[in-house]
Amino acid sequence: MVREWDSRTASSAEIASLLDTLNAVLAADLPQDPPWREDSLREYLSEVMPGERRLSWAAQAGSPAEGELGVMLGHVHVLLLGDIGVLEVLVHPTARRTGLGRDLVRLAARRVYQEGFRSIGVEVVGDTPAVEFYEALGFSREYVETRSVLDLSAVDWAALTEMATGVDAGYRVEFCPGGPPDDLIDAYARAKAAVRDVDDGELRPSSYDPQRLRDSLDTLHRRGMKPYIVLAIHDDTGEVAGLTEVVVPAQHPTRADQYDTIVAQQHRGHGIDRAIKARMLLELRSAEPELTEVQTWNAQANESMLKVNAELGYRPDREWCEYSVDVAELVHQLDAPR
Ligand SMILES: CC(C)(COP(=O)(O)OP(=O)(O)OC[C@H]1O[C@@H](n2cnc3c(N)ncnc32)[C@H](O)[C@@H]1OP(=O)(O)O)[C@@H](O)C(=O)NCCC(=O)NCCS
Repeated sequence: MVREWDSRTASSAEIASLLDTLNAVLAADLPQDPPWREDSLREYLSEVMPGERRLSWAAQAGSPAEGELGVMLGHVHVLLLGDIGVLEVLVHPTARRTGLGRDLVRLAARRVYQEGFRSIGVEVVGDTPAVEFYEALGFSREYVETRSVLDLSAVDWAALTEMATGVDAGYRVEFCPGGPPDDLIDAYARAKAAVRDVDDGELRPSSYDPQRLRDSLDTLHRRGMKPYIVLAIHDDTGEVAGLTEVVVPAQHPTRADQYDTIVAQQHRGHGIDRAIKARMLLELRSAEPELTEVQTWNAQANESMLKVNAELGYRPDREWCEYSVDVAELVHQLDAPR
């Protein structure tokens, strides 16, 4: 049975079943990725930024007439933000190729259309069935990044310690667990805003005004995702010359996610990128003893960042693509007789 589903009010058994399905999907499609845990999973699924909404549908075995609904065979959610809907679909490996994925997307797409949104975007992991699925549904590829993974057991910690101190005079490097200190929020947001229009092939950071930045940090915490930040501060001006952000999610605390790394244009060439990333890894080693890996996503065109990541020990893992589709066209296609 497929029905609209709300993670905030779902039973604990349903949340646990969704976790089992997610882990079955990971084992089938991304066997090197760590399985997820139930810690803060409900919050991860429920909490959103102010002004955003997440709508979900669940496909469960059985029917209400038979009593308790059973195993979560599939799940779709769509996050409505700005003028687009961002979609995520999961179908249990044992229930694939029966049309369930298509049915779930149809439900979400119809609603997104009714709500007046024009476009749907989705992240598609390269070399998994999702690529052919979304292409069959008419989505087109907008953007490709490379995901790289750093195995902390293979890191040369002595070399890293040297890199961490390799920043030129005139800058100080600070570790900020939990987020930037309040008195640096404005400078932090300015550093993000400054690179917003620079076209080096990376997706631009979105939280570039102070209030949005505060909301975004708050949302991360509520979702059980702990942010760590290392800043390079320019001594003369107090400006944030560089920043790097890593998030450790309660749902998979052995593998952290590297978010933005930014060095402001006028502060490039002083060893900041290398030093702040190295310092971050050194700090994480003691702050997060469970951590064994860090993953990061980079545009293939961003050669300087890829070079520093390779020096740190990151190894390219697979392509990570963004696809999108016009909602009206998607609804039309999915409603057409097959
Ligand atoms: C992508 C996914 C949702 C597809 O679900 P599904 O229920 O198997 O899809 P459907 O049966 O509705 O397939 C619809 C169409 O997509 C295409 N398709 C789906 N899987 C395909 C595959 N493995 N190979 C080729 N085409 C495929 C086909 O055209 C199919 O139509 P057909 O069966 O009539 O030929 C499912 O594989 C999945 O959950 N993948 C994981 C997604 C994810 O989020 N991954 C990230 C974390 S690992």
